Amino acid sequence: KRLTVGIVGAGGIAQYGHIPGFQKLAEVEVVALADPNKEKLETVAKKFQIPKTFTDYRELIGKKEIDIISICSPNYLHKEQAVLALSAGKDVLCEKPVAMNSRETEEILTTVKKTGRKFMVAFPHRFSSASTFLKKMIDRGEFGDIYYAKAGCLRRRGIPGLGGWFTTKKFSGGGPLIDVGVHVLDKTCWLMGAPRPVSVTGVTYQKFKKIATDGGWPPPDSRVGDKFTGTFDVEDLSGAFIRFENGATLVLEASWAGN
Ligand SMILES: NC(=O)c1ccc[n+]([C@@H]2O[C@H](COP(=O)([O-])OP(=O)(O)OC[C@H]3O[C@@H](n4cnc5c(N)ncnc54)[C@H](O)[C@@H]3O)[C@@H](O)[C@H]2O)c1
Repeated sequence: KRLTVGIVGAGGIAQYGHIPGFQKLAEVEVVALADPNKEKLETVAKKFQIPKTFTDYRELIGKKEIDIISICSPNYLHKEQAVLALSAGKDVLCEKPVAMNSRETEEILTTVKKTGRKFMVAFPHRFSSASTFLKKMIDRGEFGDIYYAKAGCLRRRGIPGLGGWFTTKKFSGGGPLIDVGVHVLDKTCWLMGAPRPVSVTGVTYQKFKKIATDGGWPPPDSRVGDKFTGTFDVEDLSGAFIRFENGATLVLEASWAGN
């Protein structure tokens, strides 16, 4: 049987990652797309020849013939869409960050346990050749005990969708930490063997609001019909010092606009 996928959100990552990625697989078919931006929905469906379109994602999730839901929407929607899809019996691939905060994440995990469905967060950095090679070396014990790690994702001119949902806290949950920092945080914790964190000291700054320039993501040609409010109420730099139960430490930094 070919597995059928419905994509929720027709923006940058759907067009540059999920849809072409799924369409490379012979055993999978992208059958439906949902986005409230009608203009973008129709443009993207035509570009990738996706037969069914919905402006309301609930209708797409309600379709019996769909096996997998791929969530490519702004962060504030991940939890409600994931819970709805899992509860409808679908397996889910959800974009990072998994949700806006730990409370929402717990709710998703509880639903995963209750429904027994598969749930995966899109952390592609784990699958790079550098990461998998390093993981093998660590697991073979070539570095010994991993007790101190530094992880950073420092962009100098990389504020995404300036003035759109990425820079509006109620839609994104935060700035570079929740946007790009989660990639290196996830990858490093995974490489360290997923120790349990016991304390975190963190700091954020917002210094570039007035001189910010757009970072080119989502790609300009994928922004058809998007409405920008001009809001920029998230941090542009964050740092953290994380201690783990096994005595290990991680120093983390993430920026969209470090100079
Ligand atoms: N894994 C990665 O490397 C990676 C890279 C980029 C983005 N992302 C993540 O992917 C998600 C989307 O980011 P993007 O860059 O594609 O943003 P985007 O703004 O280009 O796309 C988001 C799309 O969601 C649509 N949308 C809004 N409300 C919706 C709703 N109720 N139902 C369905 N769709 C809705 C918007 O109209 C827009 O088309 C974010 O969570 C982001 O953090 C992940």
